[in-house]
Amino acid sequence: MAFIDKHAILEKSPTLLLVASLLVVTVGGIVEIAPLFWLENTIEEVEGVRPYSPLELTGRDIYVREGCYNCHSQMIRPMRDEVERYGHYSLAAESMYDHPFQWGSKRTGPDLARVGGRYSDAWHVDHLVDPQSVVPESIMPKYAFLMQTPIESTHTQALMETHRFVGVPYTDEQIDAARADFRAQADPDGDFDGLLERYPGAAVANFDSQPGVTEMDALIAYLQVLGTMVDFSTFTPDASR
Ligand code: HEC
Repeated sequence: MAFIDKHAILEKSPTLLLVASLLVVTVGGIVEIAPLFWLENTIEEVEGVRPYSPLELTGRDIYVREGCYNCHSQMIRPMRDEVERYGHYSLAAESMYDHPFQWGSKRTGPDLARVGGRYSDAWHVDHLVDPQSVVPESIMPKYAFLMQTPIESTHTQALMETHRFVGVPYTDEQIDAARADFRAQADPDGDFDGLLERYPGAAVANFDSQPGVTEMDALIAYLQVLGTMVDFSTFTPDASR
């Protein structure tokens, strides 16, 4: 009897077929799922990706609070139209410190995954205060109040500890320096060497050109770092994975 004929035995008995298919699905499932229990990390580590600075992290909270994700995604798909418009497709590593991630599922406005460095701080201020003043047909709401809302670093350490709790590798040193780093990033006349050592590439500026740290400063610090951590002129995907 040829092998193919033996298959007929299975096909003619519903019970046998059910048992056999369960067996196959079980083996397949184990092969796919079991390794995940032993793998420490499924995300390829990419040079340059670092946890957010205290001010950026605070800005990220404002982004979430204001529901910017309802209109903006942060994930560039590897399709030609997207890559030509927004830049290199998003890497998993680029949102590995995002809790929760801001990939989004709605693009009423453009994707923001690589908006960092694309516009000046002043452009962001004008745009957030009154989007229609720079893009007349924009339907984006105004966020001028962010400029009038001073923000303290009272909760910054707790915020960073919470992120550490869910896996972001903030060091004790980073948490101890959090309040100083928070202020240093918004003050280009101050001492920000320590900040840049702890968070390479962080943009230091008085983002909204007003005295004091406002929610506007924090939000723009966050927008300006988006998509800028990885240097794509030297990045090559790791094909061995
Ligand atoms: C009701 C939907 C909506 C919401 C909510 C919204 N936006 Fe927008 N956004 C848009 C639209 C539409 C555009 C494109 C027109 C424009 O530039 O204003 C845009 C453009 C932008 C741009 C320029 C992007 C580019 O590449 O040109 C940035 C930056 C931005 N939004 C940030 C934000 C932030 C930060 C928030 C939350 C505080 C936010 N948006 C909330 C709709 C929205």
